Amino acid sequence: MQKTFVMIKPDAVQRNLIGEIIGRLEKKGLKLVAAKMMILSREMAEKHYAEHKGKSFFDDLVEFITSGPVMAMVWEGIEAVKVVRKLMGNTDPQEAAPGTFRGDYALFTGNNIVHGSDSPESASREISLFFLENELISYRKDLDTWVNG
Ligand code: RTP
Ligand code: MG
Repeated sequence: MQKTFVMIKPDAVQRNLIGEIIGRLEKKGLKLVAAKMMILSREMAEKHYAEHKGKSFFDDLVEFITSGPVMAMVWEGIEAVKVVRKLMGNTDPQEAAPGTFRGDYALFTGNNIVHGSDSPESASREISLFFLENELISYRKDLDTWVNG
């Protein structure tokens, strides 16, 4: 089972989309194993988005992601990283397919409502940035049995 880090961004929290996004991830069959509502410090935001340091949009990105509460989560499932990225859709909501989170609920790149890890390596790094090991809940669901036999 793979884990991925998902963060519902401040714009989605403001627009009452927490339940919608969590609901869609649940219905897909992914399992929520950690969740924390928080306001990111500038330091935390810069660490999270370190790969983008120096890019033209970096300051705006940090400003935006620290502008209000986010919902930080860890979701688990087969190919969770890839599956969540598919559900999210293209970074630019104008290119994101209908049916994806960004395709359905966002209009432009600066406010694209949700973050998801882009690789298993990023997922490990991001999960350990946001959560302590003992904050990840290990539990069984019937679905695990159906999927794994
Ligand atoms: P995220 O990390 O937030 O899940 O988004 P992503 O992988 O789809 O896109 P990424 O390339 O990692 O970019 C991170 C966030 O930076 C903002 N961005 N703005 N103005 C621009 O050209 C631009 N490019 C990226 C977006 O908010 C994007 O989600
Ligand atoms: Mg990214």
